[in-house]
Amino acid sequence: MKPVKVLYFALICSAMILLLNLNAYGQAKVTKEGFGKTPDGQDADIYTLTNSGGAEVKITNYGGIVTSLRVPDRNGKLDDIVLGFDNLDAYLKGHAYFGAIIGRYGNRIAKGRFTLHGVEYKLAVNNGENHLHGGTKGFDKVVWNAKPRKVANGAALELTYLNKDGEEGYPGNLSVKVVYTLTNANELKIDYSATTDKDTVVNLTHHSYFNLAGQGNGDILNHRLFVNAARFTPTDAGSIPTGELRSVRGTPFDFTRATTIGARINQDYEQLRLGKGYDHNFVLNGKIGTLRRVARVSESTSGRAMEVWTTEPGMQLYSGNFLDGTLTGKDGKVYQQRYGFCLETQHYPDSPNKPKFPTTVLRKGDRYHTITIYKFSPKFIPPQPRM
Ligand code: GLA
Repeated sequence: MKPVKVLYFALICSAMILLLNLNAYGQAKVTKEGFGKTPDGQDADIYTLTNSGGAEVKITNYGGIVTSLRVPDRNGKLDDIVLGFDNLDAYLKGHAYFGAIIGRYGNRIAKGRFTLHGVEYKLAVNNGENHLHGGTKGFDKVVWNAKPRKVANGAALELTYLNKDGEEGYPGNLSVKVVYTLTNANELKIDYSATTDKDTVVNLTHHSYFNLAGQGNGDILNHRLFVNAARFTPTDAGSIPTGELRSVRGTPFDFTRATTIGARINQDYEQLRLGKGYDHNFVLNGKIGTLRRVARVSESTSGRAMEVWTTEPGMQLYSGNFLDGTLTGKDGKVYQQRYGFCLETQHYPDSPNKPKFPTTVLRKGDRYHTITIYKFSPKFIPPQPRM
C-alpha cells in the first residue's frame, strides 16, 4: 500500500472505533422539564438522567432531591425504588427529607450550639431542643443551580449553591457543589465538594428512603443488611450521641453478618427504644477518605441488591420509624411506618461538640470533598420466607 492509502485506512479505522464507542455510551442522556415555582418565585426543574442500560434517576434542583430512581430487578424489570412525590407542591408542603441533599450539617447538633475558635454559634433549633439537618431551611429546601455534565460512563448533573454567611446561624460563605452521576454500571454516584471564606463546620449527606421491592410496596423489614461497622454511637433520648463508641457485638446493631432489618428491631434494647427502631450512626470500618464498601442490602422478592461505598467515617441507618401513613406519595402509595430505610453516609452526629470524634471543621482555603456511591445490581438472591 502507498503511504497515503495507509493514512486513509488508519483514519477510517479510528473513525469507526470512535463511532462504536459513541454508540456504546450513546444512550446515556439528561433531559430537563419544568417542575413548578417555589413560593418566592424561583423556577424548579426536574432532570432525568438515563444510563445506557435504561436505568433512570429524576432529580429536581429544589433541594437536590432524587424524586425517583428506576433500577432493574432480577428479570431486568425497572421499578422506582425510592419514596417521593411526583409534584413540587407535595415537596413544598413538608415531608421527611425524602431524597434530599442535607446540609450544611447533616444530622444533629446538640441544642443548636457549637463553639469554634472561642466563638459560640447559635443555630436554628428545629428538632426538640436540637438542630437537625441544617435547620429550618436547610439545603433540602433551597433552589440549586443545575447544569448537565458530560461524562464518559453515564449521565451527570452538577448542582451548585452559595450558602451565605449567617444562614441558619453558620459562619462563612460556603460554596457547595454536588455532582450526581448515574453510571452505566447502575451506580448513583454523589460527589460533594465545598469551600468557605471563613472557618466553619460542614457535613453533607443524602436522604433517599429506599425500598428495593419498589416504592410504596410494603415495609423494608425483610431487607437483608450488612454493615461493615464494629461500633456504633449510642445516643440520649434526643438522639444526640453520648460520646461512647460501643461495640456492636452481641447487640441488635451487629450487621457484620447480613441480617434482616426487622429481625431484632423490636427487641427490648434501650437504644432501639430511644430511636423507635434504628436511627443511629455506625462507626464505619476502614480509613476516612478511602472509598470503600460499607454496606450491602438485598431484597429477595425482586432480587435487587444495593451496595453503599463511601469515603465518610459514619453512616446513619434510619428505618423510617417516623413515617406514619400521613404522607401519600407517587402512584397514590401511602407511606406507612418503615416503608423505607435510609443509609446516610456522614460524619458522626454532634461532632462540633465532640472533640474526640473526627473533625467536621472546614478551614478557609481548604476543600471539603467526599464521595458516596449507591450501586445497584439485579443479582439473584434466592427467595426467603418472610418473618
Ligand atoms: C434523619 C434523622 C431521623 C429523622 C429523619 C427524618 O434520618 O436521624 O431522626 O429525623 O431524618 O424524619
